[in-house]
Amino acid sequence: MLRQALGLVFLIFGLWVGLAQESALADYKNRLVHYATVDRIDGFIRDIYISPEALQAVRQRKPLPPGTVVLVDLHQAKPTSRGGFVREGGFFVRASDEPYVHVMTRLEGEGSSSWRFEALEPRTGAPEPGVELPGDCLECHRAALTTEMLFSYPQLLEFARSGQVQRSFCKQPGRQLC
Ligand code: HEC
Repeated sequence: MLRQALGLVFLIFGLWVGLAQESALADYKNRLVHYATVDRIDGFIRDIYISPEALQAVRQRKPLPPGTVVLVDLHQAKPTSRGGFVREGGFFVRASDEPYVHVMTRLEGEGSSSWRFEALEPRTGAPEPGVELPGDCLECHRAALTTEMLFSYPQLLEFARSGQVQRSFCKQPGRQLC
């Protein structure tokens, strides 16, 4: 009896530790706000999220506060038999959700060194293999220095104003500028 009770205690403790260790981003779909989606000609779809406090700052025309999290969730579009992608209402239909997310976190300070770049599995926090950080993330995002290092800043402003998730289509593949 005592052994069973102890076993149960250990089980509950184990579960609790397991949950406590879950990455802070595990629940990003509820904790962050989805403000934009970009469909690209190569069949990749990117949902872009930001922390609610940061959105509040944008509405008040303030800079993004330290602690701001911006996240990209990548999906692949459903292919057609003719080498294109299936669309509905002008936008791609999703076939799969890629396991890793790309994350930028605003740190204290100014300029391009005030962001942390990460590529990870959101539930466990496991890093995406083969990605060098900040590496080319920083190189490329530097081009958006005047807009808080975010390429989708215009979409963020428009979302802050209208509350409508901004959908766009980009004719460039990969992450080339649209
Ligand atoms: C070659 C350029 C390029 C590289 C390299 C790159 N990005 Fe981006 N990133 C973009 C573009 C462009 C967008 C806007 C979404 C789109 O157009 O598909 C974007 C969007 C983002 C966003 C959403 C905020 C924003 O800027 O719109 C985050 C977060 C992000 N990237 C993180 C990363 C991380 C982390 C890495 C490295 C692992 C990375 N990026 C590498 C070009 C790049």
